[in-house]
Amino acid sequence: MTLINPLRDPRDRRLPRLPEPCALVLFGVTGDLACNKLIPAIYDLANRGLLPPSFALVGFSRRGWTDGEFTKFVRDAAEKGARTPFREEVWNRLAAGMRCVSGSFNDEAFDRLAQALSDLEHTHGIPGNAAFYLSIPPSAFPAVLKQIQRTGMASNEVSGGWRRVVVEKPFGFDQKSARSLNELVDEVFTPAGVFRIDHYLGKETVQNLSVMRFANPLFEGIWNSRFVDSVQITIAENVGIGSRAAFYDGIGAARDVYQNHLLQLLVSTAMEKPVSFNAEAIRSEKLKVLRAVSLPADLRSYAVRGQYEQGWLAGQRVRGYLEEDGVPSDSKTETYAAVRLGVETRRWAGVPFYLRTGKRLPRKVTEIALLFKPASHLPFDATNTTGLGLNQLVVRVQPDEGVTLKFGSKVPGSAMEVRDVAMDVLFGEAFTEALPEAYERLILDVLLGDATLFPSNDEVIESWRIVDPVEDLWSGSAPCRYRAGRWGPPTADEMLARDGRRWRRP
Ligand SMILES: NC(=O)c1ccc[n+]([C@@H]2O[C@H](COP(=O)([O-])OP(=O)(O)OC[C@H]3O[C@@H](n4cnc5c(N)ncnc54)[C@H](OP(=O)(O)O)[C@@H]3O)[C@@H](O)[C@H]2O)c1
Repeated sequence: MTLINPLRDPRDRRLPRLPEPCALVLFGVTGDLACNKLIPAIYDLANRGLLPPSFALVGFSRRGWTDGEFTKFVRDAAEKGARTPFREEVWNRLAAGMRCVSGSFNDEAFDRLAQALSDLEHTHGIPGNAAFYLSIPPSAFPAVLKQIQRTGMASNEVSGGWRRVVVEKPFGFDQKSARSLNELVDEVFTPAGVFRIDHYLGKETVQNLSVMRFANPLFEGIWNSRFVDSVQITIAENVGIGSRAAFYDGIGAARDVYQNHLLQLLVSTAMEKPVSFNAEAIRSEKLKVLRAVSLPADLRSYAVRGQYEQGWLAGQRVRGYLEEDGVPSDSKTETYAAVRLGVETRRWAGVPFYLRTGKRLPRKVTEIALLFKPASHLPFDATNTTGLGLNQLVVRVQPDEGVTLKFGSKVPGSAMEVRDVAMDVLFGEAFTEALPEAYERLILDVLLGDATLFPSNDEVIESWRIVDPVEDLWSGSAPCRYRAGRWGPPTADEMLARDGRRWRRP
């Protein structure tokens, strides 16, 4: 039952939204994601007073840990990874609600988990509310989901509260497997209880894109094919695959980043204004964009894949992909992907969207750049405008979150020389509040039951419609090579040159 505080006015922004008393069950608690992102985010939420007073973190691991060992592990991860100061009183409150269920994905361990959850009502006053976070390899999803179903843990009726599940990406390997996964998840949980995570949607700057576009009439008039020449969306990493070969090899950049983060950034850039800012209205607009995405007729010329070779980054020699630990020496997995897409709507018809992602590129950066058409006529001497490029509006998703506007300006002096200048807004300087991590926002939203920032089942299926033909085209072929520390293979530059354009240097 939901208890409503009559003194709480939802319009009062001083009062944060607090979830009801609940448990978060974390599968794969010992993994990379849990250690580096989820546990620090949970601690930061607790430190910001955003978790309910009755909150339990239940870890599930195959390692035979006691509650004490689990609690120590969580503390270490929180101390190391939290962005807010570590405070004993916050930690003690959080630690009081920690439990560990040890075992493999068999009946016995899940019976104990079900028992542990029902015990929380008496021990912590948590009336059946629980979210299950599947931070485990996708191959383990079916076994866990079936066990949750068998024990009745997914049922709102049986538990007497709400039951939700968080599914990490990748959502399938192609459209067919995504459909099967979705069917399984929807069979176990009610559709409203399923939260598919794309952590890019939890990033402040991505949310701010909607505010920029829909709160400011300034941008609306130019956000279309009349003024925009092209859009470039970049997700670049300077790191290689590190110790994640087992996960990455055979998956590659397109399935790992293009199918989810890059397409979601395209959608946030291209979508129409929703009638209101709720999950249903937003998802409906996002789906329309995905359905309008077109692939070029000559896909072979506009879908480039690459793999990094040894090279230099920040003065260090780094290994090539094929020399990384755990990668087969004949691997054809791409670590770079670039594609050109269209969006067949009245607003965007004719505007190419160039998307690229890669590892071992010169720097870690995510940005969305709108490049505007040149002025139809310049009244200045041609020799005075050689320093003038296309006007650009760049949303920096990370790092240095903010917006840059590039436009021509007069160079001081007696000549009418025009050169590009940049106007920068840094969100870190404009606001006193430090930007929260995406996972803080998303975990909180799961506990609140707010699906606004989570891709729907239909979006996932539609994304695979866009990615599958590219994967089919690439299947069996070898990726082009690029040196670590360069901006991808030369074929990616040729792809834009064919259209008379070039990649922006972020
Ligand atoms: N790492 C990231 O940055 C990242 C980013 C985005 C999405 N994801 C997704 O998040 C999920 C977790 O990622 P991760 O990197 O943390 O994974 P991981 O380190 O490979 O595995 C997480 C945990 O799952 C358990 N596990 C591993 N293999 C298993 C198996 N075959 N059967 C049952 N349990 C197994 C292990 O816990 P125990 O030994 O304690 O049982 C392990 O510590 C994956 O779906 C991944 O695709 C990860």
